Amino acid sequence: MFVKWILLLSIWQSLSASSLREEFQKTGYVEICNKTHGRETFESLYLHFDDLIDFLQKNPMWAEKLQMAKERFIRSKSRDFYGTDFFGFYDEPERSQISFYYASHFHEFIFLHYKQLQEIPEIKRFFEACLAIETAYRDLFNDTAANLGLDEIFSSTYSYPPILLKVIKYLPTYSALRPHYDGTAFSLFLDSTDNASLLLSPYKSSFTTEDFSSPTRAFSREEEQNSNLLIPGTLLKEFAIYPTPHIVTQSGNIRYATIAFGMRPNYSHQKTTFTPLPYFND
Ligand SMILES: [Fe+2]
Repeated sequence: MFVKWILLLSIWQSLSASSLREEFQKTGYVEICNKTHGRETFESLYLHFDDLIDFLQKNPMWAEKLQMAKERFIRSKSRDFYGTDFFGFYDEPERSQISFYYASHFHEFIFLHYKQLQEIPEIKRFFEACLAIETAYRDLFNDTAANLGLDEIFSSTYSYPPILLKVIKYLPTYSALRPHYDGTAFSLFLDSTDNASLLLSPYKSSFTTEDFSSPTRAFSREEEQNSNLLIPGTLLKEFAIYPTPHIVTQSGNIRYATIAFGMRPNYSHQKTTFTPLPYFND
């Protein structure tokens, strides 16, 4: 594990601060070869996710309990570390997607205050798999901020940044009309079972649908390797770093993806406007 991280970081450190900023401006993303978590890790995560979905859909009482825990968590101090109210399970049939927003403090909170939830194997296994993945990217976010000379954005009482891990399942009927910006400092696309469906564009003063394309990958998704894309979100405007709009297009198949959102600790959203985004017609 340690050796693999050295490999990853050495690729990362070959980018200087100016080139990272330039890459964000020019292409909207940087690609990283991830030697830590490949296909094997995520296929196992998606199996746990399917088990969790199945369990919560068959046992709405437990889904409700999880929702109650979330409501209580977002009134706690730990919520502020993440600066968002997105936590937990989102089963959205109207959008043909099911997702889970995992955070280590949410995990801790639930297991401390809702002991009966941690006794459910489907919840416990999924949370443990998420934790193992999430902790592996703390250094990467710190390193990204340092590379850009923005070390202070993640400074808090913790030595690591607030990370939300989003695991998402797209159903065959899923379709998206419009790209969006992420309300994050950085978003790291860790895995997808269909990379070609993610289209993005570097930030511009005006957009048409033709500006959006699927990035050509230098690395591939293999058993112990992955191609990751890192993009800036909306929370860095004060540093003249603008967000990369993106869209996951319709494919008619079941797909899974995992994204790590690097948030800003104890940060309250400021009203900011960005270039309007175009509608995609199917
Ligand atoms: Fe997004």
